[in-house]
Amino acid sequence: MTADEERAVSGDKQSDDSAIERSLRPQQLAEYIGQDRIKENVAILIEAAQQRGEPLDHVLFYGPPGLGKTTLAMILAKEMGVNIKTTAGPAIERAGDLAALLTNLRAGDILFIDEVHRLGRAVEEILYPAMEDFVLDLIIGKGPSARNVRLKLPRFTVIGATTRLAMMTSPLRDRFGIVYRLEFYDEERLSEIVRRSAVVMDVGIDEAGAQEIARRGRGTPRIANRLLRRVRDYAQVRADGTITPMVAQEALSLLEIDELGLDSIDRRVLEAIILKFDGGPVGLDTIAAAISEEADTIMDVYEPYLLQLGFLDRTSRGRIATRRAYEHLGLPAPRVDAPPPAQSTLFDLA
Ligand code: ADE
Repeated sequence: MTADEERAVSGDKQSDDSAIERSLRPQQLAEYIGQDRIKENVAILIEAAQQRGEPLDHVLFYGPPGLGKTTLAMILAKEMGVNIKTTAGPAIERAGDLAALLTNLRAGDILFIDEVHRLGRAVEEILYPAMEDFVLDLIIGKGPSARNVRLKLPRFTVIGATTRLAMMTSPLRDRFGIVYRLEFYDEERLSEIVRRSAVVMDVGIDEAGAQEIARRGRGTPRIANRLLRRVRDYAQVRADGTITPMVAQEALSLLEIDELGLDSIDRRVLEAIILKFDGGPVGLDTIAAAISEEADTIMDVYEPYLLQLGFLDRTSRGRIATRRAYEHLGLPAPRVDAPPPAQSTLFDLA
């Protein structure tokens, strides 16, 4: 287990998240807070499909981890009154694994594929005709006696989720009739989510206490709910069990989470760019090596929020720390009128 997997502000799922997350997860669209545009579109989608008595079109949700892609898939199934089978790209290793999943579906069922960008090529090849024509093309046997067999599948719906739209092959992307991008939540919405979760967890919290947690929740319900659990522990042990702004502040500063929700690892990313690479541009792999983290983790988990805060800029030549990042870390910003870095004179000689 790496440090990141257990850090308090990672959007990735952690060991104690799943069961609790499930209990906090809204079951109906009406209970789901935020992502208003998606909610409205999904409501229309459901009503239209139900009026026609047809299964839903295939849906793709993308966006940073922890924003509610799985929750929306579960809600879609529940509101449509259909079964949902859950799997993930890396779990479907062989074409046969996918064939087994597909042949167990009933008409209208939803197959939820998390991390859909991580499906293998051979598996994808099976998925294309299955999604498009509801058929399963299998090769039976080997060598000269091998035969192609085409099985008809019931009409089903794939809901895909990905943090990396760009890593999906375009044929796969094209097979999703509907694509929604989840956005980070604003503080007000996140604060509502924290209050709702506190009710489910039966812990007392006032509005200002919820705001204090929401402010550090990085626009991400999974993180805000995780911070809520840590603050609840603190409130229970060091106070009377109720979460006030003071309790929240004390608990979160003990976890070294600053007022914007950045933790020590975020700060290390920014400090590496600023102090080791003169503010950038510097490549992702170089940053990863400098702070001993996985490049993929930096890209999926840390970067989206640092970009959203305007602390980081992504250019074709690499990552750049912005003036705001310097200010946040209390480091002197480079002068705006500083001369550009010296160019090679090699070509000036001609
Ligand atoms: N818990 C986690 N995400 C939520 C959301 N979007 N709305 C309500 N409760 C949540």
